[in-house]
Amino acid sequence: MMKNRKIKWGIIGLGNIASQFASDLLLLEDAELTAVASRDFSKGQQFAEKFSALKVYDSYDLIFEDQDVEIIYIATPHNSHSELSIKALENGKHVLCEKPMALSYQDAVRMVEASKKCNRFFMEAFWTRFIPSIQDVLQKVNNGIIGNVNYINADFAFYGSETENKRLFDKEVGGGALFDIGVYPLFLSYVLLGNPKEVLAKAVMHKNQVDLQTSIILQYEKAQSVLHASIVSDSDMKASLNGTEGRIELNSPWFIADGYSLYENGKEAVFSLPALGKGYVHEAIECHNCILNNQIESELWSHQNSLDLSKIVEEIKTQIGLSFT
Ligand SMILES: NC(=O)c1ccc[n+]([C@@H]2O[C@H](COP(=O)([O-])OP(=O)(O)OC[C@H]3O[C@@H](n4cnc5c(N)ncnc54)[C@H](OP(=O)(O)O)[C@@H]3O)[C@@H](O)[C@H]2O)c1
Repeated sequence: MMKNRKIKWGIIGLGNIASQFASDLLLLEDAELTAVASRDFSKGQQFAEKFSALKVYDSYDLIFEDQDVEIIYIATPHNSHSELSIKALENGKHVLCEKPMALSYQDAVRMVEASKKCNRFFMEAFWTRFIPSIQDVLQKVNNGIIGNVNYINADFAFYGSETENKRLFDKEVGGGALFDIGVYPLFLSYVLLGNPKEVLAKAVMHKNQVDLQTSIILQYEKAQSVLHASIVSDSDMKASLNGTEGRIELNSPWFIADGYSLYENGKEAVFSLPALGKGYVHEAIECHNCILNNQIESELWSHQNSLDLSKIVEEIKTQIGLSFT
């Protein structure tokens, strides 16, 4: 297979994140936005014009049937991720599905099974895994630069508005802080420390039965992570990784950190590692590489990584009494 050919993308669900992702695709010479699909054709036309998409569909099913499209980026609300991903895979498409990949561990398992059965690439769009600052920090921490990590503190919080961010407060589409943004601090703890031995979580709930804010402790053999997500408060959104021989502070907002500070022996070293574009370029490059190498999963954010994270989220969901059924 030619390594320098263009990868042909389709996007479904033309909202906020779809626009950001499409603008980053324009930065990649080896990406073509072959088609987009919206439930609203005129919105699709406007999107296609803005981001140079070649075709527009007014139904998600039609883009799945388009033989020119190789990979579909699923940018719809969480509640539709599993069914749409499975449908796309069964139609022979590779899939990049927005986080969180599913509202239940059971659905996440079905998605991974579909990828294996259909022999098509599938990845949950955990873009933060691929940005340069996080890549560098992971490498340094794994090489022991701060000794053994024993404490992580990370959060993700902002003022959500019930009128402007309806999706976040709507149980029907999988709203709430945990599933929308709580997965980020959980991701950080997971990539550094793996699966916890124990999970403790408490939430403040909205009248619509979605969580407004959730605080979590992940207990490991010799480490703890203290994590928080909220759609009703602000925070500095720094993340600190503390070890037996030093600490790292990721610049705010840490999930798209443009660098970090490393503190060792009382000295600070500053590293600048900005992401390309809006930060989504890096996950798109990973998709390209995997497709060209005939891989059905990424080694950096594998099927098992997504399943592990989904299992932790499932436990928190139970503890805080969150249910989408
Ligand atoms: N990676 C990131 O940084 C990041 C950031 C934000 C969000 N996300 C994730 O991306 C997904 C979408 O978030 P978003 O903020 O882009 O949402 P959004 O602005 O509301 O867009 C979602 C789009 O999905 C389509 N859709 C299909 N069924 C829908 C329904 N029942 N209700 C509303 N929209 C529906 C709509 O597109 P059409 O009308 O065109 O069909 C809509 O514009 C979420 O899973 C979220 O967690 C990721």
